[in-house]
Amino acid sequence: MSHLFPTYQRWEVEPASAQGTYLTGKDGKEYLDFTSGIGVCNLGHRPPQVELAVSGQLKEYWHVSNLFQQGIQEKAAKLLAEASGLDYVFFSNSGAEANEAAIKLARKATGRSKVISFIKSFHGRTFGTMAATGQDKIKQGFGTMLETFVHIPFNDAEALKKEIDGETAAVILEVIQGEGGINVASSEFLSAVEASCKEHGALLIIDEIQTGVGRTGKAFAFQHFALKPDIITVAKGLGSGFPIGAIVGSAELKGAFGPGSHGSTFGGNPISVSAAVATMETIFEPVFLKQAMDMGNYLFEKAGEKLGSLEGVLAIKGMGLMVGIEISGNVQETLALLREKGMLALPAGENVIRLLPPLNMSQEEADKALNLLEETITALAPAAS
Ligand SMILES: Cc1ncc(COP(=O)(O)O)c(C=O)c1O
Repeated sequence: MSHLFPTYQRWEVEPASAQGTYLTGKDGKEYLDFTSGIGVCNLGHRPPQVELAVSGQLKEYWHVSNLFQQGIQEKAAKLLAEASGLDYVFFSNSGAEANEAAIKLARKATGRSKVISFIKSFHGRTFGTMAATGQDKIKQGFGTMLETFVHIPFNDAEALKKEIDGETAAVILEVIQGEGGINVASSEFLSAVEASCKEHGALLIIDEIQTGVGRTGKAFAFQHFALKPDIITVAKGLGSGFPIGAIVGSAELKGAFGPGSHGSTFGGNPISVSAAVATMETIFEPVFLKQAMDMGNYLFEKAGEKLGSLEGVLAIKGMGLMVGIEISGNVQETLALLREKGMLALPAGENVIRLLPPLNMSQEEADKALNLLEETITALAPAAS
């Protein structure tokens, strides 16, 4: 028997090793991995520059606490600030903790409590971020939620205008809703959100936990639009698999996060931070981002050509290397058959196959994935219709 709480619907695969875009199971079966550990291993599995940085840090010190000066944290914070155009960083251990920190900071800085988020959003599983999340299934059975969170329809600027007021501390949103089904925000909606926030003195928090660190072909997805958030939250891809999250906030917010206002024992631990520095030094290079953007465009276009008109495919959506294939059939069944054929992909929302491949995958790997998807969707289409 397993002594693990059955909180996850685990697959039948047990990894023995993983390298680049491939993962090998204990039974020797090889998989093309388009999950990247759910948008985490953005440089593929075990990128050598991250391994080198982490092993170097392992030989220096592992943990000392945030009572000490830590040059490695300063270096990571500078990279985040420069890449985002924001100013100050707080390090956490996960995405949910980053969103917790952002919500706390927005409440403290504004002296207000209300936070507006969107239907189908996902912001985490802690008590606060669960309340922020706009999906009932995440909240079922956990009793009364925090009342200061309000959820409104995504891509609906009018709904926001009606809800936002002088009590609103912040609006939190994903530029592309990841868990909610790869739903891309329109640029008109995003400009209207920013304008409404300015008008009412509310802060704009962009949750870049899934979309950030190069996933969409820019350092952060908000940079595709002319947006100026007050806070962004980052995690997943930041540490290439080492647990780390961060918020990056504007200079005006510095005073609200003074000594003793927030903290975390492990947040900013040097092992994860060294992984983050090596990851960012690679991904934030303009040449790397351009290649990721080109590869994203290639995957998106080819997915449209090859899969777009298949029976059972309803839409292809996304941006960069965050691609959703909306299908009429059963997603779990489709993903299971895909695994049998040697490829790993993710579900999102109700009926979306989500592809989050490494940003540095090859064109050959993209073609191979699309062939496997075509075979799988075609094999299941008659049963779905
Ligand atoms: C957009 C977004 N926000 C927050 C989270 C929560 O991050 P974590 O699981 O690291 O707590 C996730 C995780 O899927 C996410 O996709």
